[in-house]
Amino acid sequence: MRAVLLGPPGAGKGTQAARLADHYGIPAISTGDIFRANVAGETELGLTAKSYMDAGELVPDELTNAMVKDRLAQDDARDGFLLDGYPRNSDQAVVLDLMLADLGAALDGAIEITVDFDEVTDRLLGRAQTEGRDDDTEPVIRKRLEVYRTSTAPLTAFYEGRGLLVQVDGMGGVDEVTERIVSAVEHHSSS
Ligand code: AP5
Repeated sequence: MRAVLLGPPGAGKGTQAARLADHYGIPAISTGDIFRANVAGETELGLTAKSYMDAGELVPDELTNAMVKDRLAQDDARDGFLLDGYPRNSDQAVVLDLMLADLGAALDGAIEITVDFDEVTDRLLGRAQTEGRDDDTEPVIRKRLEVYRTSTAPLTAFYEGRGLLVQVDGMGGVDEVTERIVSAVEHHSSS
């Protein structure tokens, strides 16, 4: 399976990506995690990305696309992958198609986890207490949600138009949401 996971910040993309990667035996590739590893390692990419991440803005496309291209070319992603947090705007979605075409592959699905903004804000403020992620502050969460609304949400229609969209209700317990995704993906691939 080659799929992307869509949904607002705090929808549970990272949580579900790890479980789905386990279930389907494919790598979960999170652009946010790769950026955070670079920030922690104080690489040049990390130093550049940090200012955008701390402000809740998207890291520039040319940096993000190059990073994803590199990652998708690795052996473990050859037979499938789950992209968490990429693409995040329509330009990235177009570039992803080109990257996959170069690799002789194509996307099988775009799984969107839907959760209302009040719930995601509560979840991220909850995580701030335990993990202290730099971008889990109220003003930055507000900005991330605005960026999601303007740049990422239009991807729903983009993938729907191509028959790839699988929408799943992300409200409720983590296990319940995983079960919904697996069953929606099975239904989509058999239809
Ligand atoms: P990224 O790391 O992708 O952050 P995000 O999209 O804001 O998503 P989060 O990780 O906050 O939430 P999530 O949906 O993964 O939910 P999670 O499972 O963690 O990106 C960070 C930054 O990197 C961006 O702002 C940008 O600067 C940059 N970036 C990344 N990708 C980029 C790209 N493609 N282009 C440009 N820039 C990019 O869950 C959240 C919390 O909720 C957790 O505490 C979890 O335990 C809890 N939770 C999960 N599921 C449930 C549930 N069902 N019920 C209750 N709680 C739950």
